[in-house]
Amino acid sequence: MAMKKLTYKFSNSSTDYYLAHGISHLKEIVDQKNSIIITDENLFNHHQKRFKNWNVIILKPGEEYKVQATVDSVIEQLIAMEADRKSTLIGIGGGVITDITGYIASIYMRGLKFGFIPTTLLSMVDASIGGKNGIDVGVYKNLVGIIRQPSFILHDLIFLNTLPQVEWINGFAEIIKHACIKDAAMFRELETSSLKKYQDRKTLICELIQRNAILKTRVVQQDEFEKGDRKLLNFGHTLGHALEKQHELSHGQAISIGMTYACHISEQVQGFKETNRVVSLLEKYGLPTYAKFDKQKAFDVLKMDKKREKKDINYVLLERIGKGVVKTISLRQIEKIISEL
Ligand SMILES: NC(=O)c1ccc[n+]([C@@H]2O[C@H](COP(=O)([O-])OP(=O)(O)OC[C@H]3O[C@@H](n4cnc5c(N)ncnc54)[C@H](O)[C@@H]3O)[C@@H](O)[C@H]2O)c1
Ligand SMILES: [Zn+2]
Repeated sequence: MAMKKLTYKFSNSSTDYYLAHGISHLKEIVDQKNSIIITDENLFNHHQKRFKNWNVIILKPGEEYKVQATVDSVIEQLIAMEADRKSTLIGIGGGVITDITGYIASIYMRGLKFGFIPTTLLSMVDASIGGKNGIDVGVYKNLVGIIRQPSFILHDLIFLNTLPQVEWINGFAEIIKHACIKDAAMFRELETSSLKKYQDRKTLICELIQRNAILKTRVVQQDEFEKGDRKLLNFGHTLGHALEKQHELSHGQAISIGMTYACHISEQVQGFKETNRVVSLLEKYGLPTYAKFDKQKAFDVLKMDKKREKKDINYVLLERIGKGVVKTISLRQIEKIISEL
């Protein structure tokens, strides 16, 4: 059976999307003996049979391994496997695996072809798309990296069968983010549906994943190097990142709180009137909203944000549901609004 392929063009490359396919088709996309899969122990243990007959490098799972030491060890394994410029690297896993695979593929022998099979909801709708590859350095997330697009992305929803509930919820945080900044109709669909419905109905989740993958792709296509519209994807992330580092919060939980506060800032700066709807939706999908946190500490981290420009910061706000905007606000004003909430 012929595979349905969608090709999306970026500034100087293109990516083939095989959405809702099946990992069994992988050998039709790449040359099996010249390909090396990079995955993590969780994926390998749950889905061992799917890796049969492939060259595989297995990493330890978790954000703490998205670092240079892992890159070094993978490069040693690539040398031992005699990987060369004709080799293709395939990242099969969540965002940690896709970020690090894309990075290694971009630097080993000055660049190999690479592709992704994202296996978390978050990586299907977000991390695998857009070509941002990289690693963390100390407390600085994604400090070192490169923008380079994968040759292909393949989805196989069979992987979601083993995805832990907390990771489902993390994925929905980014889906709700997409709805807030770009897609009011999807926001309404999410309001009438539920996490359980999406988990029980394959066609529903499949459509939702594709809609989000394409939404992010279009944003990136228009602004690959983040001069304008791509910044909208940072909705909830400015405060979110500040909280994620200091508290035991998952990324989804942290940006959910970030989106809640961004809604309040939007009310004051942008006349936004639908904070309640956003907060209710986040809560409906099991995400925290008004968690207690040390505001002064969060604010100190926020001051160091990459998006800061002297005394001002680029903040993503909502004009209405489905319409995000980037505004330059003074740090003082943000401090005042956040401390009064
Ligand atoms: N490049 C980008 O544009 C971009 C965007 C968003 C996030 N990210 C990055 O993505 C990372 C977060 O990604 P994530 O949320 O996918 O986390 P992750 O890669 O850490 O995966 C979460 C956990 O789920 C496990 N797992 C993955 N798939 C599974 C499956 N199918 N069944 C069972 N267990 C499974 C993993 O082993 C891991 O323990 C962060 O490092 C973040 O910086 C990158
Ligand atoms: Zn995110």
